[in-house]
Amino acid sequence: MATQDHSQDHADLKLHAAQRALKLVEPGMTVGLGSGSTATLWIKLLGEQVRDHGLKIRAIASSEDSEKLGRSYGIPIINFEECRKLDLTVDGADEVAPGLALIKGGGGKLLREKIVASASKRFVVVADGSKQVEKLGKFPLPVEVIQMAVPLVSDELRELGFTPKIRVHADGSRYITDEGNLILDCSGLLMEDPAKLAAKIDSLVGVVEHGLFLNMANLALIACEKQIIERTV
Ligand code: A5P
Repeated sequence: MATQDHSQDHADLKLHAAQRALKLVEPGMTVGLGSGSTATLWIKLLGEQVRDHGLKIRAIASSEDSEKLGRSYGIPIINFEECRKLDLTVDGADEVAPGLALIKGGGGKLLREKIVASASKRFVVVADGSKQVEKLGKFPLPVEVIQMAVPLVSDELRELGFTPKIRVHADGSRYITDEGNLILDCSGLLMEDPAKLAAKIDSLVGVVEHGLFLNMANLALIACEKQIIERTV
C-alpha cells in the first residue's frame, strides 16, 4: 500500500513538471517529443491544446510510442527532412546531476532521444525530485549496442568498471530498440568524471549510443512536494 501511494505521489509530481513545461510552448513552434512516463504526460497536455484549443505546432518524436501518441491527438508529426532544427524539446530523465548532466534511456529510447535533443535550440528536462543525484551512476547506464558486438562491448565496459547486463522483458526475451539493437544496462559505477567515461564509451566499436546526456539540457523542471525547482546549468 505504502509503495502504491509513493508512486502516485511521483505521478502527481511528474504531472506538475509537465504542466510547467507546457507553458514554454508557443504557437508556430516545432517541438521535440520525448519518451517515458513524464514526457508522455507532457505530450498528452500538448495534444489537448492542439486537439481542443487549436494550438498550431508541429513535432518530431523520439520514439514510435511518442509518435503514435502525438498523432492520436492530431499533432502533425514531421521528420528531419522537413525541418533541421527544433525550437524546444521536452523529455524526462532517469538521473539529473549538477551541471544538468543526465542519465537517460531507462525506457530504451536513448538513441532517438539524443538525436532529437541535439537538434533542439532548447532542451528541457521534466522530472520529479527523486531523479536528482549528486553523482550519476546509481541508475544503471543504458548503452545501445549492435547485436553481434555485445560480447565484445560487454568486456570493454567491464574494463571500465561497469557490470553490464543485457536488457530483457518480463518474459525473459531480449529488449530490442526501435533501431533493432540491444541495450546493456551498466551498473556498479558512480561516475567521478562522466565526460571522460562518455568519451571512452563513444570510442567502443559496436556502441551505437549511450545514455549520458552531457552539456545538452538548458533547463530542468524538477517537481518536489511544495515547489517546482528550475535548474539551469
Ligand atoms: C526513455 O528512454 C528515458 O530516457 C526516459 O526519459 C527516462 O527513462 C525517464 O522516464 P520517466 O519519465 O518514465 O521516469
